[in-house]
Amino acid sequence: MGPARFIAFEGIDGAGKSTQARRVARGLGALLTFEPGDTDLGRELRHLLLHHEAVDPSPRAEALLMAADRAEHCERVIRPALAAGTHVVTDRFIGSSMAYQGHGAGIDLVELRQLQGFATSGLQADLTVVVDCDVATSRARLAGGSRDRLELLDDAYFEKVRAGFLALAAEGGPSWVVVDGTAPLEELEAAVDAALASVLSLDLER
Ligand code: TYD
Repeated sequence: MGPARFIAFEGIDGAGKSTQARRVARGLGALLTFEPGDTDLGRELRHLLLHHEAVDPSPRAEALLMAADRAEHCERVIRPALAAGTHVVTDRFIGSSMAYQGHGAGIDLVELRQLQGFATSGLQADLTVVVDCDVATSRARLAGGSRDRLELLDDAYFEKVRAGFLALAAEGGPSWVVVDGTAPLEELEAAVDAALASVLSLDLER
């Protein structure tokens, strides 16, 4: 068996990344986790960030709260699992802050990147899969469900976030892969599996 690997799924809401993250975690026997909210502190932060009627954080405060969630997640969940030899699959990681708070909300990308380094003490994913999806399809998929605070923002914001994910992937090197979230499910799954095989030499158990 090779080393424990850390895999992140990223993308705009409704792209289908959570479904892929779940499937890959099952197939690898990995720990499935998510941001924001998968620690005791994180659950409180998630509520403040997304579901609290009276709280509407300014962009920098939002970035700091997401970073606090990430710090706790790295320290208490991801690093211990990797140290124990368990693969970890996360639904969202650094890319979400760079895309939403950086490209979307306009926080300086260099400062924001430094904040990510602080929050994670340098932990990076071995593979980041961006599940790309156009904003209209994402909207149509989310229609009917209840929206959190960030999902209520306008299309122009989501266009910037989507473009942000694509830019991150373009500059991210071989550990970043973009797959088409609007492709037929079998094709999408095959593209994700191909990324796991080519970047990490990992095969899913089916
Ligand atoms: P998510 O849990 O994927 O949404 P869902 O409620 O559909 O399960 O993500 C919650 C929201 O948080 C999503 O709109 C993206 C946003 N987010 C950021 O803006 N920055 C971040 O760093 C992270 C991790 C999430």
